[in-house]
Amino acid sequence: MNVATDVSLEFDDIQSGVLNARPSPYVGTYLLLRIDDRVAGRELARRLQAVVDRGRPSSDPAPDAWITVAFTYQGLKALGVPQGSLDSFAPEFRQGMAARAAELGDVGENGPVNWERPLGGPNVHVALAALSPDSTRLEAVLERARRAYQELPGVELIWRQDCYQLPTGRTSLGFKDGIGQPGVEGSGVPASNPGERPIKAGEFILGYPDETGSLLPMPTPEVLGRNGTYVVFRKLHTRVAAYRRYLRAKASSREEETLLGAKMVGRWQSGAPLALSPERDDPELGTDPNRNNDFLYHDDLRGFKCPAGAHARRANPRDALENEMSVDVRLHRMIRRGTSYGPVLPEGVLDDDGVDRGIIFVFVGAHLKRQFEFVKTQWLNDGIFIGAPAEKDPLVGPNDGSGMFTIPQRPIRRRLQSLPPFVVTRGGEYCFAPGLGGLGWLADLRT
Ligand code: HEM
Repeated sequence: MNVATDVSLEFDDIQSGVLNARPSPYVGTYLLLRIDDRVAGRELARRLQAVVDRGRPSSDPAPDAWITVAFTYQGLKALGVPQGSLDSFAPEFRQGMAARAAELGDVGENGPVNWERPLGGPNVHVALAALSPDSTRLEAVLERARRAYQELPGVELIWRQDCYQLPTGRTSLGFKDGIGQPGVEGSGVPASNPGERPIKAGEFILGYPDETGSLLPMPTPEVLGRNGTYVVFRKLHTRVAAYRRYLRAKASSREEETLLGAKMVGRWQSGAPLALSPERDDPELGTDPNRNNDFLYHDDLRGFKCPAGAHARRANPRDALENEMSVDVRLHRMIRRGTSYGPVLPEGVLDDDGVDRGIIFVFVGAHLKRQFEFVKTQWLNDGIFIGAPAEKDPLVGPNDGSGMFTIPQRPIRRRLQSLPPFVVTRGGEYCFAPGLGGLGWLADLRT
């Protein structure tokens, strides 16, 4: 269906966590709840209406603290959502992340049998994310959440994960993260890349036209689907010591170690992109939000500056695929709300200390299959699209010790061999974050 392109987003119905950038730095907590009794679950939804934040994106996220709520398919079932409505959700959501493991490359040690309980199991029903610029305000926000689920027999807290973003924005492997984000048309959220036109709102929020000019299939009834979105949540353990040892073994100097690490990501640790600063890190560029994402790849199609196989270039090839393939990158964009968990491994330490640390990867988008699953399976787990079928993402791909990574350079390319896995999936869920009206509909369910 072709529809008009003018959009007026219903900010009062859209949860804040969808469009608002997180404050930087911040602290946060993820909570997972189980609903044992549908009446109690509906009461929870009713209470959450007053707790969950909504509203126009703030130009200054610093003062903000907020709570976001999302439900798994099992959670919607536990609330007693009628079958006709359950059937209207995206098939991948209905199956759940654990059932999609083979497609996603979550096999072997990444497989659901090895996931942290209760992730991927039938008891995860409601996910709450609370975050704030500091721990005092986080406590206040969490207290609001607690009031919603505590002393509510039939609703149980089953998992808690604290997380944070460092003032540098760097995560466990040492790189500044969360830089590249799409702009969303009609939201007032500008693209972090001035060279990328804002993406149609329907790519991220259900009920609005998407990049093809159509309305994506929306869960029914309309009050439930409209202004909602899908959320992917993955706990990804990072093997920081193994990563450091690998680079040390492949490099002949500390400078080369840093360079190889940057080639694998597509950015230096400071965030400076190789596309703009190919020879050396430029921390000033890395921390400048007006410049650190202002680039395309058309002048580097062969990857001499940033390898085609680098993580960030795979995840968003920008204009690099335009000439060779009819891939419309705009159909595969995502809002990311990633965050760190676990203590940082002190600099220079090369031995594993056995402590769990990594990233809680969070995707927000209206199309699980075309956005999250496509990027994960076609671009990160597979190298066919860059003409290197044997190469997976060197940083986050499901490598098994036999993979390689090509770094184009003159006179002869460099190949890093025997890539071990640096990231292990600890578990995750596909969720649906309804608009406030949808939350109210869930609260008002009868039967
Ligand atoms: C532990 C796992 C991961 C780590 C350590 C990681 C790290 C990074 C870093 C350092 C960047 C560059 C900074 C930035 O642009 O924000 C980046 C960019 C990105 N990552 Fe990841 N990432 C991980 C997993 C994933 C996964 C699973 C996906 C998608 C399925 C993904 C999608 C993206 C996207 C879309 C970008 C932005 C690319 C751009 O616009 O240039 N990442 N990641």
